[in-house]
Amino acid sequence: MLFPEYRPRRLRQNESFRRMIRETVLNTNDFIMPLFAVEGKDVKNPIPSMPGQFQMSVDNIVKTCQEIQKLNIPAIMLFGVPGKKDALATSAYAKDGIVQQAVRNLKNKVPDLAVITDVCLCQYTDHGHCGVVEKNVVDNDASLDLLARTALSHAKAGADMVAPSDMMDGRVGEIRESLDENGFSHVPIMSYAAKYCSGFYGPFRQAADSAPKFGDRRTYQMDPANAQEAIREVMMDIEEGADIIMVKPALAYLDVIYRVRQECDLPVAAYNVSGEYAMIKAAEQLGWLDGTRVMMESLTAIKRAGADMILTYFAMDAARELQT
Ligand code: PBG
Repeated sequence: MLFPEYRPRRLRQNESFRRMIRETVLNTNDFIMPLFAVEGKDVKNPIPSMPGQFQMSVDNIVKTCQEIQKLNIPAIMLFGVPGKKDALATSAYAKDGIVQQAVRNLKNKVPDLAVITDVCLCQYTDHGHCGVVEKNVVDNDASLDLLARTALSHAKAGADMVAPSDMMDGRVGEIRESLDENGFSHVPIMSYAAKYCSGFYGPFRQAADSAPKFGDRRTYQMDPANAQEAIREVMMDIEEGADIIMVKPALAYLDVIYRVRQECDLPVAAYNVSGEYAMIKAAEQLGWLDGTRVMMESLTAIKRAGADMILTYFAMDAARELQT
């Protein structure tokens, strides 16, 4: 079809036409809201590099979740910021750990909102790595048991889904086996399958106090230069029993989301991470761009690339925007 027979502008001339031919439409069902739980009562600490986001004690997490449910957002992703850290991350799998307490309260007070728990050790280890460290090296196989214990303790507390973000090899299989053996075969695993070693996690590490004390995460998180490798990671996690596959971060990795969508038939999640949120908020505060517009455009782009669901700190703002 060529000009002048074909004129693409014909179907752009009014909002009705534009709505009729719109290919990607955001919906509150697309969003998962990440939250940070801390010990204490009536705590609501603003996270400086993430304007509008807070570390909250369980009472305030419950209040926020009631709002989230009213906004018709189906799920949250819960992160714990524990009071104490040690070499073996014991507070990650403690019965009364911060995530476990928060989950129990939420399932009691806001039972219909799905609670997905992030399963990792980095917030809980004194060295800040996502696994057990032996002689300054992250020991893959020694970490698997602790990750499985953490996931199981979340399930016992009532978590609706667990989401391992550590990037140790074999952890999905280990977690699946431990859940199945203990009567939690109904609890799905959302695997952070293609998780890149990204500078965009900076604000999160301030929010969760989880920066590594030495070295970096390059020996376990993926090299940003690789896309083919993401498919291998995804296939491996599917073989091991993952129910939902995640790509993270989102905006700089839309090609990876697209490829994963083409190559696997499981639901695909994308994590619109802390740095992606911070950049838009910062530019908005400087008056350099229209924050709401760029938020909606970014989320639409992530969905257009192939994500079935988006983990995003914008979840509540975007849900409010969709109501207007
Ligand atoms: C923990 C974890 C991280 C994020 C989610 N889970 C940080 C990291 O891997 O260093 C990042 C989320 C974000 O930036 O919003 N392993």
